[in-house]
Amino acid sequence: MRAEILDGRKVAAQVKAALKEEVTQLKGRGLTPGLAVILVGDDPASQVYVGNKEKACRAVGIASFPHRLPAATGEEHLLQLIGRLNADPAVHGILVQLPLPRQLDANRVIQAIDPAKDVDGFHPVNAGRLAAGLPAFVPCTPQGVMHLLAAYNIPVAGRHAVVVGRSNIVGKPLVQLLLAADATVTVCHSKTRDLAAFTRTADILVAAVGRPRLITRDMVKPGAVVVDVGINRLPEGLVGDVDFEAVREVARYITPVPGGVGPLTIAMLLKNTLAAALAGRGGGPRGE
Ligand code: GUN
Repeated sequence: MRAEILDGRKVAAQVKAALKEEVTQLKGRGLTPGLAVILVGDDPASQVYVGNKEKACRAVGIASFPHRLPAATGEEHLLQLIGRLNADPAVHGILVQLPLPRQLDANRVIQAIDPAKDVDGFHPVNAGRLAAGLPAFVPCTPQGVMHLLAAYNIPVAGRHAVVVGRSNIVGKPLVQLLLAADATVTVCHSKTRDLAAFTRTADILVAAVGRPRLITRDMVKPGAVVVDVGINRLPEGLVGDVDFEAVREVARYITPVPGGVGPLTIAMLLKNTLAAALAGRGGGPRGE
């Protein structure tokens, strides 16, 4: 069997086209959704991600407010900026690109963001609401994974999903979303013994650890759905956490890197920003 490719670019384009219509209508009623994007320092990968997020905002008509700060920025300075953005009615969403330089405490910074403007879904209030099954801003990458599965009508209920990775950004929130969709969920991580014994039992296997080509063909059950969240920069270019060419020979569906989950992450950020703008008008954050 040769896997069908889950085309993230195509699905993201559909999401963005629908969002653009909604944004246009909202603007007609006098409300322009706005996203503040804060980048501290000059990490090259973060610069690319932030640039792509700003471009995507413009493409659907969301106002983007970029804040580029020097690598040596102090915590108080950053917290003051977040305080001003919390109070700014033109800003509906606030995103602080991670990772931050070493002198900055990411937890403190995230907790300074108004949970109602936390379009990344990283604030403990939103993480807690998601875990409790309450309406919350859901982190964009795991939300994108669920959207991609749904777009291809891939059933989740009752299936065994194995998530490799336990980060606050991807692994943990994805576990919550898969549970909410009635999957049986196993979480593996860097200390898991005999990882392959777990991955081989997955109907849906998600790799989100940042280790190039960690998931090899022998670790995948024939017919499984394989979702690759990894983005690793190697001399030969971008590669995921999955050995794509080998695994596509056994899987039923597989995401490429790039062009898989990544484009959905940005589309979900735009969706969350629109939801934040609508919430200011008596709506609420909408999960996936
Ligand atoms: N760094 C890696 N992924 C993300 C993300 O989704 N949001 C932010 N703010 N930083 C990231």
